[in-house]
Parts: sequence; structure tokens; C-alpha cells
Amino acid sequence: MKKIIIANWKMNPSSPKEAGQLFSNTVKLISGVKKTEVVICAPYVYLSGLKKLSSKISLGGQNIFKVEEGAYTGEISADMLYNIGVQYVILGHSERRALGENNLNVNKKIKIALRAGLTPILCVGEDKRDENHGYFNFVKNQLEECLNGVQKDSLSKIIIAYEPVWAISSTLNRRDANANDSREMAIFIRKTISDKLNNQNKMPRIIYGGSVNERDAEDFIKNGGVDGLLVGRASLNAKKFSSIVKICEASER
Ligand code: PGA
Repeated sequence: MKKIIIANWKMNPSSPKEAGQLFSNTVKLISGVKKTEVVICAPYVYLSGLKKLSSKISLGGQNIFKVEEGAYTGEISADMLYNIGVQYVILGHSERRALGENNLNVNKKIKIALRAGLTPILCVGEDKRDENHGYFNFVKNQLEECLNGVQKDSLSKIIIAYEPVWAISSTLNRRDANANDSREMAIFIRKTISDKLNNQNKMPRIIYGGSVNERDAEDFIKNGGVDGLLVGRASLNAKKFSSIVKICEASER
């Protein structure tokens, strides 16, 4: 399975011109990359335009609505994304959870995304770490509630992003996570999921996200026990993001 580097542009940039430039510059800088899958999760309004610029980078949304269709003013459905050529969607990001998203809604969205043909990128992660290691149970509960009722053979189609909220760039007084933090949780997530699977089922890919930059990406890729990275702030700089992609490309596998 290819390693994957996913950009989360969040609510940036502010014009289609800038979005196009950022996208095209990134495409140019990663032109030699073959072994690494690259995805950019951009604001809805840019996705169709970016799709026309290059197929080198796959596209993702940052949310979908929890119902498939109907009278829901202002919402975007999974089918809408799929039908404009989007392949991925971030679900359960902590910044959306802070706006009221809960595990039950994320669970509905995962099932709808899978039915539509999108690959869900499920974000899990604790707000803080405690001495009693209660954060393992917190993440386990997120996984169980978000994946409740998802068919065993569909689990491999999901990407699980471990994003400790305390390490994300938008968190006030954030601190750095390291490759050990990532590795211990990646092992725990694999164990939690594999307990649900039969031998013949494939594991989902597990990635790390939280202030990844061009300096620490190598450590996370080599020692973080993950199949890729979810990159926020650094993905808004084509040079920084492409360096992260190239670090992943150069890593042994
Ligand atoms: P960050 O964002 O890299 O800016 O911390 C990651 C994310 O929130 O997905």
C-alpha cells in the first residue's frame, strides 16, 4: 500500500486565483514523486477548478452533510463531491468537533461517504494527555462510536488520522507531539481495529497529523508507525508541503 500525504487547507486561501497557484506550484514541485499518494483537501468552492488543473494530486473535501439528500439549506452531500471527481473527505476533524460535531454524526457521515464512493479520512485524537493514560480509552471510544456498524470489509477503505488536539497548530498553548506519541497510538489503533476484523480483512491506513512540518516529517514517517501524514498549516506553502511529500517518497518501505 502506498504511503499517503494529505493536505488540509482548512478555510484557506481566500481566492480561487491563490488556490490555483498554490495547487499548481505544489504539482510542479512534486512532479518526480511516484511512490507516494498526494491528496489536497480544499474548500468546496475550489474543488471543481482544481480538478481541471491536474490529476497528479487527488482531491478531498473537509466535510459532508450527515444525510444523503434533501432540503438542507447550505449543506453539501457526499454524492455532490463524488460527482465532481473528489475522492476523499475529512470527517470528524477536531475543529468541526469544536463546532458541535459528535461521534454519532461522524458515524452517519462515514457510512454515507463509503456508500457514495468517497474515502473517509476519520480524525481521532484526545484533547489532553493524563498520567493515567485515559487518552487511550478516549480514542478507543471515538473509534468504536465512529465506526459502529461499518462493515468489516469496508474498514480498509477508511484512513484513520490520529491528530492529538494538543499538538494541532490552531490549539492555544499547543505543544509538539513526537514520533513516540504517534507510534504508541498507531499501535493501539491497529490493535483496536484488528480486534474487530477477520484474518482476511485488510487494515485501514493510519496517518499522523498535528503541526507536521518539513523538519519533523522524517521522524514521524520513519519512527511514528504510520502510513502517512495529514498536514495543515505547512500545506499552505507549496515548498514546505512538497518537501514533506519528498521526505515520504525517499523513506524506505
Ligand atoms: P496543522 O493541522 O498541521 O496546522 O496542525 C493539522 C490538522 O488540523 O489537520
